[in-house]
Amino acid sequence: MSEDERLVNPAARADDQQTEKSLRPRVLSEFIGQEKVVSQLRIAIAAARAREEPLDHTLFYGPPGLGKTSLAGVIANEMGVNLKITSGPAIERAGDLAAILTNLQKDDVLFIDEVHRLNRAIEEVLYPAMEDFALDLMVGKGPSARNLRLKLPRFTTIGATTRLALLTSPLRDRFGSIHRLVFYSDEAMQDIIERAARILNVPTTTEGAFEIGRRARGTPRIGNRLLRRVRDYAQVVADGIITLEVARAALATLEVDELGLDENDRRLLRTIVELFNGGPVGLSTLAAAMAEEVDAIEDVYEPFLLQLGFLQRTPRGRIATARAYAHLGLPYTAPSDHPDPDAPQQGSLF
Ligand SMILES: Nc1ncnc2c1ncn2[C@@H]1O[C@H](COP(=O)(O)OP(=O)(O)OP(=O)(O)O)[C@@H](O)[C@H]1O
Ligand SMILES: [Mg+2]
Repeated sequence: MSEDERLVNPAARADDQQTEKSLRPRVLSEFIGQEKVVSQLRIAIAAARAREEPLDHTLFYGPPGLGKTSLAGVIANEMGVNLKITSGPAIERAGDLAAILTNLQKDDVLFIDEVHRLNRAIEEVLYPAMEDFALDLMVGKGPSARNLRLKLPRFTTIGATTRLALLTSPLRDRFGSIHRLVFYSDEAMQDIIERAARILNVPTTTEGAFEIGRRARGTPRIGNRLLRRVRDYAQVVADGIITLEVARAALATLEVDELGLDENDRRLLRTIVELFNGGPVGLSTLAAAMAEEVDAIEDVYEPFLLQLGFLQRTPRGRIATARAYAHLGLPYTAPSDHPDPDAPQQGSLF
């Protein structure tokens, strides 16, 4: 089954989600990488516990699959409290949020995924809840309507977003600490693959784990997915052990290239290069040309391509860099109106 087929096959998807759950780190000591965030959290958690107070409201942002949801669970476990999970789009009416808030117990963690997608009316309910641990309700209608303030237990909001810029500033200001998650190093990714392989009982050599890790675009969720696909290959085509050779052969059949780019990443680059002459091309034009959602391009594909220096964002749109051409094996000519500083020096022709 190809990656795309798996995405639309409900049984395969449920299976993936089940594994993902079992692979989630549960405590800080199991959480690999993100050293800066982890050390700050360790201190904040110890301090809050010593004061017997809930942890400050905390916001995590960064590309999908880097561990935001996992960290919310880790924090609840380390604090020894309940975790309530919801998301911006799931809270449709102010009453939905009121119901969640009034069911919280003292010190609980309320995790709000995709917190940038909360609508304004609901944010208004959240502000006093986060700031004063109070819920303001309007009771009655017309001239007899009055405002009723309910006291809530002290709790911790953990917000997660792939798009910090889309958060309103009043909401952002209510988070006491804000942490950016970054792509994982190759070494951290190797540790993550080795840990997952142990949990899933997949025999793997160090080199095999490193190869999968380094081609997972610095993203644990992608690493876990590749590990499962490579395991299938190892079982069917080899003797079940993921060695370097098996990993390489399996990743080749999955069309994951040396840098970890898959067909979608390459299609994005080729679209800019072939259809738009290297750019600049506006995001919505690019999305239309690729028949993709604007959000998918911005959240899922672009961050790693930007990190590799394959793409540049300019006020006039996206540009494919000389490095991107080199990776695609295409000759590069710098557009005259936006020279690429990374381009190899072109000697004079005559
Ligand atoms: N530091 C880590 N160590 C080990 N495994 C990790 C780590 N971070 C994430 N994972 C693995 O990656 C998977 C995805 O992580 P998670 O769901 O927490 O990401 P996310 O940032 O919430 O993604 P999204 O933005 O898509 O919701 C987890 O199931 C877990 O197995
Ligand atoms: Mg998540």
